[in-house]
Amino acid sequence: MEENDEVRIGINAQELTVPSDISVLMACMSADPEAAPDVICGMGSCYACVVTRNGSERLRSCITPVRNGDSYEF
Ligand code: FES
Repeated sequence: MEENDEVRIGINAQELTVPSDISVLMACMSADPEAAPDVICGMGSCYACVVTRNGSERLRSCITPVRNGDSYEF
């Protein structure tokens, strides 16, 4: 994998380098499998997987791709 295919993100104050083509949910699962958000539908319908981005924005992690430099909390 080339360097451009990865992004740097924060999850619950933990810094991670992850592939650029994964969802926020997948990144959360990789950071903390025990505490990661619930997954019910996996396609944006149920809002069970909501996390906070950059301290304020609430989003559905299962349908949101990771973005370089962002921080996520759940
Ligand atoms: S798991 Fe249902 S909206 Fe994400």
